[in-house]
This record gives sequence, C-alpha cells and structure tokens, in this order.
Amino acid sequence: PIHFISTIEPPQTSHLLPTQDELKKIAAYKAVEFVESGMVIGLGTGSTATHAVDRIAELLHQGKLKNIVGIPTSKKTQEQALSLGIPLSDLDKHPILDLAIDGADEVDPYLNLIKGRGGSLLREKMVESTCKKFVVIVDETKLVKNLGGSGDAVPIEVVPFCWKFTETRLRNLFEEKFEVGDEILRLPGVVEHGMFLNMATTVIVAGELGVTMKHK
Ligand code: 5RP
Repeated sequence: PIHFISTIEPPQTSHLLPTQDELKKIAAYKAVEFVESGMVIGLGTGSTATHAVDRIAELLHQGKLKNIVGIPTSKKTQEQALSLGIPLSDLDKHPILDLAIDGADEVDPYLNLIKGRGGSLLREKMVESTCKKFVVIVDETKLVKNLGGSGDAVPIEVVPFCWKFTETRLRNLFEEKFEVGDEILRLPGVVEHGMFLNMATTVIVAGELGVTMKHK
C-alpha cells in the first residue's frame, strides 16, 4: 500500500510561479531532511539530485551533519561531492546503505520508476538496490499513470561490442511482446535497463501548490 502525506508547503521562491529547477531544489532539500549524522548515503545523479548533494555538503560544513559517507552513482556526482568535501566510499566497503537520494525520469502511482535518461543507470541501480531507504525526488512533471507514459524511451545500457546488433534484437523483442521486463536482461550484450520496479520507499514531489510525499 502507498501512504500519501501531503505536507502542502507552498514553495518558497522569489516569484509567483516557481521554475522547474526551483521545484527540483525544493524536493531535494526536503529529502535531505531524512539524512542523519553517521549515515552512509547513496548520492544520485542529475539536475535534481545535484541539489541534494549541495545541501548535504552545506549541512556538513555548518556542522549540522557529521560523519557522513557518500557513495556516488556517477563520475559526475563523484566529482561534485569531492569538490564539496563530502567523504566518499564504495559498495565494497559499505555494502548496505542507510539511504539513497536520487531523481527519476518517470514515477508511476505505485512508485515504480524509469531512470537513466541522464546516462548513469547501472551504478544507480547497484547503489539503490542495497539501501534501507530510497528517497526519490521529482518535480510534478515526472508523474505518469503508467511507466512509459511520457512517450520517451526506456534507457537500456548495452556493452559497446556490436551494439547495433543488440539494438536490433531489443527492438524485435519490443515488437514481439507488449510487456518486457527482466527478459531484456537475458539478451546477451545488455547490461541493465532503466525500470526501477519496487525500489523507491519514498517519493517527494514538488509542485506549484506544494510538496507531496508518498511512502511505501
Ligand atoms: C540519471 C537519472 C536521473 O535521476 C533522471 O534522469 C532524472 O534527471 P533530472 O533530475 O535531471 O531530471 O536517472 O541517469
């Protein structure tokens, strides 16, 4: 079951209608309220997650958070976190994370996600499949009735070797079947797909009328 908590906090912005980036920042800041000192945190990738990384660093420097260890989900996030002085580690040393915070491309009513249109889905899935809480942060444009509802493609990561061949096989698979899930993964050459099913524990949605939290 999904539990909805509407906090209904009007976004604090300088103008009447918040921009999409301001909404992303509002969702990110709300998610960082879940971070406690001593936690191992998965640091997401993308224009929404970047605000969460900034906020974590800010709280660390203010002394409001202590002993945080971050596991970045991409090189870009790793560079950002290092430049901000967030201590980093990896899954070898920390195989279970307390929390991960990341954006998404689509969120359905059951908190299933499409991710990876920013290009880092494998690392994201590795990190986010081993955390106690996975908090997803989005602006309201990411909400869909069904995954794929935005009309954009599902990202699939493949190995570079003969990738056009793999692409053709994938297209044939999608033609043959209306619904494909982990079947994609059985195709040689495929590394991972961008459907993150049953992984998010909380989704924070920032919209023009306020912030909504959905918990699983
Ligand atoms: C990166 C991702 C991102 O979380 C997703 O693309 C959302 O990005 P943004 O926050 O920039 O809208 O999965 O691969």
